[in-house]
Amino acid sequence: MKYSLVAALLVQSTVVLAHLLPVHLKAPTAAHFLEIVRNDTYDLGCRAIAHPTEDGHFKLHALLTEEQIAHLENEYKAVPEISLHRADLTKRAATAPIGTGDRFKAGTVTPVGLGTQAAGSTISSLMNVAEITSAVQALAKNAGVTTITLPNRTFNGATQIAAYVGAGTDKSKYHLYLSAGVHARERGGPDQLIYWISDLLAAKKSGGGLTYGRKTYTNAQVNSVLNAGIVFFPLVNPDGVAYDQSSGSLWRKNRNTRSGSSGTSIGVDINRNFDFLWNFRKYFDASESPASTSPSSETFYGTAAASEPETKNHVSVYDSFPKIRWFMDIHSAAGDLLYSWGDDDDQSTSTAMNFLNAAYDGKRGVVNDQVYREYIPSADAANVKNVAGKTVAAMKAVGGRSYNAMQAVGLYPTSGATDDYAFSRFWAKSGVNKVYGFTMEFGYSTNFYPTLTEFNQNILDTNAGFMDWALAAISVGLE
Ligand SMILES: *[C@@H]1O[C@H](CO)[C@@H](O)[C@H](O)[C@H]1NC(C)=O
Ligand SMILES: *[C@@H]1O[C@H](CO)[C@@H](O)[C@H](O)[C@H]1NC(C)=O
Ligand SMILES: [Zn+2]
Repeated sequence: MKYSLVAALLVQSTVVLAHLLPVHLKAPTAAHFLEIVRNDTYDLGCRAIAHPTEDGHFKLHALLTEEQIAHLENEYKAVPEISLHRADLTKRAATAPIGTGDRFKAGTVTPVGLGTQAAGSTISSLMNVAEITSAVQALAKNAGVTTITLPNRTFNGATQIAAYVGAGTDKSKYHLYLSAGVHARERGGPDQLIYWISDLLAAKKSGGGLTYGRKTYTNAQVNSVLNAGIVFFPLVNPDGVAYDQSSGSLWRKNRNTRSGSSGTSIGVDINRNFDFLWNFRKYFDASESPASTSPSSETFYGTAAASEPETKNHVSVYDSFPKIRWFMDIHSAAGDLLYSWGDDDDQSTSTAMNFLNAAYDGKRGVVNDQVYREYIPSADAANVKNVAGKTVAAMKAVGGRSYNAMQAVGLYPTSGATDDYAFSRFWAKSGVNKVYGFTMEFGYSTNFYPTLTEFNQNILDTNAGFMDWALAAISVGLE
């Protein structure tokens, strides 16, 4: 068994993959996992999420070393309700290849998405880092997109670009913002975003609609989404993605070496580095680990709020496009669409109980208690639930699989994340627009490297999700 597992992993061509094994733990309650979730040495994927199972239990997915598996098996020998299960990788097809050339020919050949191609068409490989830029430049050269160079260079010196399309030259007419590629290993996010924009522009030009599996959209819907004004930042973490693509090491963070220069001590988790309750030791209950102060953790929060150039660049987009109302950050892998808040349970009755109120410092983040719950006005709670529900309904209607809409906190809190930062700006800064923030978690749990079939299904699922997310946002309101 062990031999065949290792052999299967070697066939997948990534040696380091064998080092981190996908597992899930199962227990009768989500609280059974608290010891694991609060231990920042475990890799719990994009965020720790306890998923209900059909038999009324909960599952927690993780990527563990053999040593960690042995440690937990030993630890839980006396706790029979908690069981650990290895994923059966022997049945998995090879992971989707990464493009080796530049299929967009230095920004001259426009990408073509799946929504404007015949049913059953497929994309043959993931984009490499240079192709992501080349694809966006081709959309700029041929399809009406405008690129902007963001102010900071990454640790390894990359220049970052975002782009906008649909609502002309007045940046205050742009209301939708999407980003991808924050977590390096979450393969396919940048591709899905770029192919969706390509589809919208191709359909607008031809006067046609879009088809994603069993879900279709009219040309009028395409035009309405474009008219909402779309800003997109398809590759937030180019240093991390370049490293992940060359190493196959399931790399998540950026590649900043200031806090650690070898192995897993390299890098900051960009999705714990935003200025929302960033200094979690001060703001959260001492028992909670919404991020980590340890450089070797996958959730290392950095050296200050927005210490990282990628974070600063992401934030600069709000300053350039002051009327953004809706934000989505594209991640994997869980099969969820997350809405605010991510630091604690929501409540709409006590305005004083909010993330800015120092009276609650040291009390946040314990889910299912009454000590602290994050304030969300009831109208906002209704809006984000409504839009999240329509988004997952569209993803399910594609015909591939089902997705769940859920509050971002789930059963465990997060600090410094892109989605909470987006929504918090309205209260934390004066004179800025209110932004509803979402995180899409496409794909199956801990399945960061999709097979080619899964990669193509993810494009269909997410692109339908983006369409209905945008359409629902438009019907709630863009101003
Ligand atoms: C965290 O987990 C590691 C095993 O990965 C274990 O050695 C360590 O004792 C745990 N830390 C705490 C505080 O429980
Ligand atoms: C990073 O960008 C900000 C604007 O967001 C700018 O004020 C700052 O000077 C830049 N820093 C560097 C090191 O380029
Ligand atoms: Zn992620």
